[in-house]
Amino acid sequence: MKFIIKDNYEEMSREAADMMAQLLKENPKLVAALPTGGTPERPLELFAQKHQEENLDFSKMKSFNIDEYIPLAKDNPQGYYYFLNKYLYSRVNINYDNTFVPDITKDIDTACAEFEQKIEDAGNLDFILLGIGNDGHIGFNEPAPYYYEKTHLVELDPDTIEANSRFFDHIDDVPTQAITLGMATILKAKKIALIANGEKKANGIRKLYEENTIYPEFPASFLRLHRDVTIIVDREAAKYIL
Ligand code: F6R
Repeated sequence: MKFIIKDNYEEMSREAADMMAQLLKENPKLVAALPTGGTPERPLELFAQKHQEENLDFSKMKSFNIDEYIPLAKDNPQGYYYFLNKYLYSRVNINYDNTFVPDITKDIDTACAEFEQKIEDAGNLDFILLGIGNDGHIGFNEPAPYYYEKTHLVELDPDTIEANSRFFDHIDDVPTQAITLGMATILKAKKIALIANGEKKANGIRKLYEENTIYPEFPASFLRLHRDVTIIVDREAAKYIL
């Protein structure tokens, strides 16, 4: 696991955007899975900016949402497809047919199976950009005694609902369920980067840095099973490892 510590959120974001741009330049048919939330806003904006400023070509890239709330439709401003559209797709020349999110108009099992199949059909993920929950979740794989291999339905932890309530008018508006990529689908990505900023993430980053065990109470510890993981953080998230 490689750690890159940047001075602040802007620099952390630039590092992540540069990494993604480099991967897309090397492989215009990049198959990527991307997160939503507070952390990826600026990285995705800077990634998109490279289309305007450097003519970075997104036309052959395939992009998958890592997760999506149930039951938010594609055009719901609180939804995760909407988020990727806002920060990335609408700003670049991506082909919308190459943007994927679980189809929640179908029953959940079908939506999960079809989404997983689409990833397989694309030849699996070349790259996944992850955030990390305050409780260590990756995607929405919450701390649990067992994990799902593939895309599946999750009940969100109260901690996660509380953390995500900042994006809603009221905590009762936060969906309690989501569909997320499973642990194995995440770990099958050829390359993984995890971004984190701010003090709330410092404990999780400390665990990733100091520990060398894999245990279910800390989902991000499963990243130790992967050979190509880069953790990109700002100084606040890195405060226990500096
Ligand atoms: C969201 C996702 C989550 C977030 C995590 C951190 O698509 O996969 O794992 O990355 O909850 O969220 P923020 O960045 O809002 O702190």
